[in-house]
Amino acid sequence: MTVVPPADESAQVAARVERRWATMSIVIVLLLATAAALIGLQHATMPQGRVETIDAARLHLSGEFVESNLGTAVEPDGSVTVRAIGQQYSFVPDCLLVPTDTPITFRATSPDVVHGFLIVGTNINTMLVPGYVASIRARFSNPGEHLMPCQEFCGVGHEGMWARVKVIDKAEFTRLSAGKRRMSCAD
Ligand code: CUA
Repeated sequence: MTVVPPADESAQVAARVERRWATMSIVIVLLLATAAALIGLQHATMPQGRVETIDAARLHLSGEFVESNLGTAVEPDGSVTVRAIGQQYSFVPDCLLVPTDTPITFRATSPDVVHGFLIVGTNINTMLVPGYVASIRARFSNPGEHLMPCQEFCGVGHEGMWARVKVIDKAEFTRLSAGKRRMSCAD
């Protein structure tokens, strides 16, 4: 071992500290990459926490998504459930009616191919996959109208496939919904 002059000694200390920090940052990156890989693997091998399936070929015959059950329904607890179908090339109903300041659950599916369910001006955006029920919770604070275009390419009529979401004042909604089982904008 050689005796180093004081100037060189501080340079060595600096180099040692730099190496230590560099090692630490590499270790952190490796740890994060390992965690990401493990979580990815786990997600790929586990079933999703909550998947609702439905027979896409029988939607119109019976069950939750028969035509008479589509639209807006007021639940006993005062929340609102809106059921809709996206199909080539329209949504049923073509205008969804919802009240302000109310917990809302959108439930939708597709009988044919994958469609998009997107409400412009909100963070609601999902896919309607045949065989699966998409369920999204929402709450609107202001009355108004939102465009709801299909945002997944679904065939030649894709561009023309869209609906609207009409948000109306809660008091007006309560008045309109009295005695009605299902509602859409036409009510
Ligand atoms: Cu339905 Cu694009």
